[in-house]
Amino acid sequence: MKQNFPDSFPTNPLWKSITLNQLQVFKTTAQHGSFTHAAKQLHLSQPTVSSQIKHLSTALGMPLFEQVGKQVYLTPAGQEVFDACQTIFERLEQLETNLAEFRGMEQGHLRLAAATTAKYFIPKLLNPFCQRYPSLTISLEITDHQGVVERLNKNLDDLYILSHLPEQDKIEAESLLCNPLVLVAPKRHPLTRQSHLPLKSLEKKPFIMRERGSETRSSVEQLLYQHKVSVQVKLELNSNEAIKQAVVEGLGLAVLSMHSLSANDLTQLAILNVEGFPIHRQWHVIFLREKKLSFVARTFLDYLLEESQAYCQVYSSLTRNDSAFASKLKAS
Ligand code: PGA
Repeated sequence: MKQNFPDSFPTNPLWKSITLNQLQVFKTTAQHGSFTHAAKQLHLSQPTVSSQIKHLSTALGMPLFEQVGKQVYLTPAGQEVFDACQTIFERLEQLETNLAEFRGMEQGHLRLAAATTAKYFIPKLLNPFCQRYPSLTISLEITDHQGVVERLNKNLDDLYILSHLPEQDKIEAESLLCNPLVLVAPKRHPLTRQSHLPLKSLEKKPFIMRERGSETRSSVEQLLYQHKVSVQVKLELNSNEAIKQAVVEGLGLAVLSMHSLSANDLTQLAILNVEGFPIHRQWHVIFLREKKLSFVARTFLDYLLEESQAYCQVYSSLTRNDSAFASKLKAS
């Protein structure tokens, strides 16, 4: 089939003269080198394919194929159109993927699991994210460190927030915020009169501890063990809020994350300046390396890393050294 140049060249802009459907038929024909095979592939009749190509050639003002027997070959102009088709359809496919992901942000669900103490800062970080994506639903499972590790092993959530990293090579971890652990006493406790205390001064003192499985507890036990100090564990509680109440009531001393202490708490509790405190821990966000994160989870991860930097700058100024840390905290 020999196609001739039309007498008059088209004057309309391309987007008015041609359709995506014609381009799709043209692209398929070029890929198969045959009208018949293209028709089969597109579930069209062979005359429909020929007619679409003819309309496209006319609209563009030049032949796009040269026919030799049953085989069709691209003309130089046809090759140019074919290259453009590749770009156009690739871009459309990309657009389709991106739009699906946007729909994902609108209708998606984010599953998070965080260690008990993270509940003091996660909602603050979640709030602007929820406002940005109002249709998104989020489930946040709060449990102690051990519980989060178990959820990770069962692949129950998208992202996990912990301070101490589990010893596993199947995880990716990103550092988030600092997590200083401080020793607290009731406001009028005798130890509050001393500006600096050796760790040994805690020997045999009554303590309120978090439950076993808590990383806060493990950190305290590790410090005491390293310095051969033994304290009297009077009470075990799985709630930071309950621990604060118990300390206020004089049941013992306790170690809490600075994140858990509000200005109001510090009207009743004092932070003791004891050797070895604050214990410096770091919050991390972790996920399974092999897991393909959903678009929602990836978006939240990027957001979390960016936002936590700003949040951490405030904290690092408060924790530069112990006394500055204590006085600034008292002033807050
Ligand atoms: P916890 O864990 O609240 O269970 O002590 C905190 C952490 O992971 O450090």
